[in-house]
Amino acid sequence: MVIDLVLSNAKIYTSSGIVTAGVAIENGRILRIAKEANLPQASHTLDLHGHLVLPGLVDMHVHLRDQQLAYKEDFVTGTSAAAAGGVTLIADMPNNIPPTTSATSLRERARLAENHIFVNTAFYSAFPEDLAQLPSIVKEKAIGFKVFLSNEIGGFDTEDNNLLTRAFTQAANLNIPVAIHAEDKKTLENAEQEVKKTCRTDVKAHLETHPAIAEMKAIQRIVQLFENTGGSLHLCHLSSAIGLTSFLAAKKQGLRITCEVTPHHLLLSNKHSKRLPRLTLVHPPIRTLEDTKALWNAVTNRQVDSIASDHAPHTIEEKTTESIWDVKPGIPGLETTLPLLLNEVNKGHLTVPDLVRMTSEVPARILKLKDRGSFKAGCYADLVVIDMKQKHEIDASRFHSKAKYSPFNGWKVKGKPIRTLVNGRLVMDEGEIVAKAGTGSIVS
Ligand code: NCD
Ligand code: ZN
Repeated sequence: MVIDLVLSNAKIYTSSGIVTAGVAIENGRILRIAKEANLPQASHTLDLHGHLVLPGLVDMHVHLRDQQLAYKEDFVTGTSAAAAGGVTLIADMPNNIPPTTSATSLRERARLAENHIFVNTAFYSAFPEDLAQLPSIVKEKAIGFKVFLSNEIGGFDTEDNNLLTRAFTQAANLNIPVAIHAEDKKTLENAEQEVKKTCRTDVKAHLETHPAIAEMKAIQRIVQLFENTGGSLHLCHLSSAIGLTSFLAAKKQGLRITCEVTPHHLLLSNKHSKRLPRLTLVHPPIRTLEDTKALWNAVTNRQVDSIASDHAPHTIEEKTTESIWDVKPGIPGLETTLPLLLNEVNKGHLTVPDLVRMTSEVPARILKLKDRGSFKAGCYADLVVIDMKQKHEIDASRFHSKAKYSPFNGWKVKGKPIRTLVNGRLVMDEGEIVAKAGTGSIVS
């Protein structure tokens, strides 16, 4: 038997430690991981020269844009950025133009993406105004429902408790997770009114319009509404110590609840936002050093389920408007997430198994993705090869994303993704995209 590909000289993490082995790949999946002498012959061999190989990242929070927001990012540039960053699967958020909020819009978005994606792509939907449409959206392969509590998508009223509870119950019955951007709308509106009265334009003024208490209130409200539905609730981008406390309390109560944190909320605090007020502007905002410490503490204690980028690209013009109030919120993160996290591994702040758990295994489990996110025989060969020793400087001008800026630009880090394989095919080699668009699959 001659199989498709063997990765030779790979350094592999197993439950019993690091071993040097080969990986046999056939029909896009991992056939076997074993000493090379025990692997079948392959038509191609890729020598990994003793580099570490891990499951590719499953980034469960990506704004891929395209369609009428293609000027910010499109399927080609966004998924190239993913491949360059060692991300092999992304879950796309629904706040697009047109918004993903019906079976028709989802089908059209998937159709447009199909031949343009370099990594596997899944789609969230927003809740439709008419909840009777939920089953058809799930049938069209929505991976989950996303709710922006502070920023409605389509006509769904997120202030209506009754409607939310019915939506959560239906999602639970359809066995599909709900992901929440947890910032309480009324709290933000009141805070904004107060702050804008003072005509302030400093970065602290923006932070005051998105107080941590808004995160806490939103979580507490949603947890109450979710409590008796039996469904799975996922909290996106936790940013504050008090938000985290509310999440942990809900978990203790026995709710099926998970959370994600982003590299920017872990690594940036007000000293960075003072220096780069516009490029660090994001929702929820970059907060205090104490908040980052609480988030790190939760990472270390294995209380954080996933790390996602919340890749939210905008044009540089949209990020550098004169008034701070006009700056579009969001940070491009697909090409910095893994290098930043590998640097934390090298610094001893994170272990490789914890990294893999939060960036691949658990996100795949939350999104109920079959045979993805794990490095074992039978799973898809979605892999990233890593040079743990390579020191490099983050250079946003070389991003594949259309958003060629980053608050991390110029950061010196150690550890780099050097190759990415998607469905058994080499997609990124030393920073270059080497596969055809369409190598990624639409997944659900
Ligand atoms: C997101 C975007 O740009 O789509 N921005 C962000 O700051 N995270 C939307 C959002 O989550 O508010
Ligand atoms: Zn969000």
